[in-house]
Formats: sequence, structure tokens, C-alpha cells
Amino acid sequence: MTETAEPMRVRAAVYRGDDGNRLAVETLTLAAPEHGEVRVRVRAAGVCGSDRHVLDGEWRVPLPAIMGHEAAGTVEAVGPGVRGLAVGDHVILAWHQACQRCGECAGGKPWACTRARSNDSLLPDGTTRWSDADGSAVYPYLATGAMSEAVVVPEFAAIRIDERVPFDVASLIGCSVGTGYGAVVNNARVLAGESAVVIGAGGVGLSIISALRLAGATPIVAVDVSEAKLAEARRAGATHAVPSGAELPERVTGITAGGADVAFEAIGRVQTMQQLPELIRPGGRAVFVGLPPEGRRVEVDGLLLAYEGKTIIGSNYGGLVPARDFPRVAGAYLSGALPLEDLISARVGLDEVNEAFDAMRRGERTRSVIVFDD
Ligand SMILES: NC(=O)c1ccc[n+]([C@@H]2O[C@H](COP(=O)([O-])OP(=O)(O)OC[C@H]3O[C@@H](n4cnc5c(N)ncnc54)[C@H](O)[C@@H]3O)[C@@H](O)[C@H]2O)c1
Ligand SMILES: [Zn+2]
Ligand SMILES: [Zn+2]
Repeated sequence: MTETAEPMRVRAAVYRGDDGNRLAVETLTLAAPEHGEVRVRVRAAGVCGSDRHVLDGEWRVPLPAIMGHEAAGTVEAVGPGVRGLAVGDHVILAWHQACQRCGECAGGKPWACTRARSNDSLLPDGTTRWSDADGSAVYPYLATGAMSEAVVVPEFAAIRIDERVPFDVASLIGCSVGTGYGAVVNNARVLAGESAVVIGAGGVGLSIISALRLAGATPIVAVDVSEAKLAEARRAGATHAVPSGAELPERVTGITAGGADVAFEAIGRVQTMQQLPELIRPGGRAVFVGLPPEGRRVEVDGLLLAYEGKTIIGSNYGGLVPARDFPRVAGAYLSGALPLEDLISARVGLDEVNEAFDAMRRGERTRSVIVFDD
């Protein structure tokens, strides 16, 4: 199916790096979708910790950047050669735009595709579809730039889902919820009855906890500095809630009778990442989901790690195959098994984006979602 589309003007949250960690809502020009691409009208975009890392100078990305990468919306224009999507389809955006052709992609590991340009804020062809009032390029963070009224992405990065899933819930499946589900199901392969600990109960950590409950893990120990987050963790399925602190290994060892089978870090702090191997029993798995600032090193006791047969697992985008896993997660939501609306604590307009990031910095809110009008 082909359809011609014109360039359009869109309001988007842009980070230029010249005003501290502030974003400004600018009007940009979004080019028409090219061959194999679709334009998606964004209906909801989540505020993720990864965007915050960029704004707070912890990771370098091309600037100016349109922030946001966790989103859902409707297809409103298709470029030439698009065969799998039609105008009106409800879609979730996948931010790792794998090439779909290399051995990793063919082998079911699109997250490991080295041809993807997402980390360079570029579409797979190495370009961007956005420009500012001066005609200069603007870069979509993680090739998505979801804090915008509309985006252009490759057809394969927009996954069609059941229209009964509300857009705010659907948006989260595109990062935090998909990452948490995938970390549990794809990376750690948690079995019913295994014990688990999750450090950090923000959007990603709560998603891990709800996926652990779905998988039948028990006990599930949540750790956070915030009492409010610990209360949310219990609601999401944690059987135990423990404030972060020095005695953590003893507390976890006591609750899990000798250490958890699997532990997840979902903050991105070196200190808590280092703690992970101490929280698991011999033969256990430690899963790094949180992402630290660039260049930070994590120390582990190499002798103990080998001697006790522990595994450290790096989790990138939950090992997801989006076309397979997004509909699965959506189905679990529709069945009532994953109560994902509980993760959303604020729905805000695009103009409130800075307040949403400030709330995240203060450790408030589980997830803020930017909602766009029809
Ligand atoms: N691996 C991936 O593919 C992937 C995908 C998405 C996000 N992430 C990363 O996951 C991390 C979490 O993202 P998020 O959106 O959930 O962020 P968030 O800010 O919502 O959550 C962080 C949580 O950590 C808690 N916390 C902070 N300091 C703590 C401490 N010392 N001890 C215990 N808890 C503490 C906060 O109270 C908060 O609840 C980020 O680093 C993000 O970049 C990774
Ligand atoms: Zn590939
Ligand atoms: Zn994210």
C-alpha cells in the first residue's frame, strides 16, 4: 500500500543542552515517511529514566535531541512499500531499530543487532526526519523522539497491538514494561517458585516485579529508598518490601533462606549493581537492567563469583523480540494478569515535561505519561 504524505509541523520536547537539564517545546518540521516508513500520531509517551540520564549529562547523544522513546499511537501515513501496517492501526514503538537482516536479527536477538543506529539517534539509513526553524537537523533520541505530536519510524519499529489496550498503558510496553517483562522472561528465564529481589522500584523495577508475579516467583523482595515506592511494589506483587541500607544482604538472605535465585538492579547505580552478586545464592543469576553513567566500572569478587557459580546477565531491552513480545504483554494486560494501569501515577501535557523529570529526580511518581489530544 502506498500513500503520499506531506512534511508537517509538530510540537516536540527538545533538549539542546544549553539550559541545564531543561527541555523546551518547539515547533519542528517532520518530513514525510520514506520507503518502508510510517508516520505515527503519538497518543502517549512515558517519561523513562533513560531520558533523564541524557538530560542530566550522564550519557552523550547527538544534540539537539527530541526526547522520549516509550510511546504508542496510531499510524496516520504510510510510505511507499509499507505492507504490514495501514492508516488507523494502533501501534507501540520499538526503540531498538534492528536491521531485520543480520544473523542476530534472524536468530531472534534483534537487541544485539550491531547495524542498528538507535544509540546514535538516527534511523537505520543514518538520517533524521526532523528539522528545526533554522532548517538544521534535530535528532530523535533512540531513533524514536516520542515526546512529539508525531514521529516517523521504519515499519518494523511500529508493532500493531489490540485496540482495546489504552494508549497510556500501551506506551509503557514500549520500554519500561517490555524491559521488565523481558528481563524476567527472556534474560533471567525465571521459573515458578524461584525467589527474587529487585533493587529500585521505579517504572522499570515495578515492571520487573509485576512480571515476576506473572511468572510465579516467590518470595519477591523489593528494595527502594522511598516508602511510597515500596508501597507500590507491594501492590505490584512484592511479598516483602525492604528499605535500601547497609544490612541489605542479611535481610535478603534471611527472607530467601540463603540468597535469592535471581536479583535485578533497576536503578543504574554502581553501588547497588555491585551488591547484586551478594544477594543471590550459589548458582544464582544477577541481572543488570539499570544503566549507570558512561564509563563507570563495577567491581565483583572474581573468586567468589566463579567458586559459587554465579552468573551476571546484562539485559538490553529485556532481550525482547518486539513483534512477538509486545502483543504477549498486551494480551497479559487484557486478561487481567498484568495490571499495568497501576504503574501510571501522572498523566501530563507536553508542556509539563520538565516537571515530570523533576518529579522523577526527587524519586516521586511511578510513571509519568505525556498524553496528547486526538
Ligand atoms: N536495560 C535496559 O534496556 C533499560 C531499559 C529502560 C530503562 N533502563 C534503566 O533502568 C533504570 C531505571 O529506570 P526507571 O525509568 O525505572 O527510573 P526511575 O527513576 O523511575 O526509578 C528509579 C528508582 O530507584 C530508586 N532509587 C534511587 N536510589 C536508590 C537507592 N540508593 N537504593 C534503592 N533505590 C533507589 C528510586 O526511588 C526509584 O524508585 C535507569 O537506569 C534506566 O536508564 C534500562
Ligand atoms: Zn540486525
Ligand atoms: Zn526507556
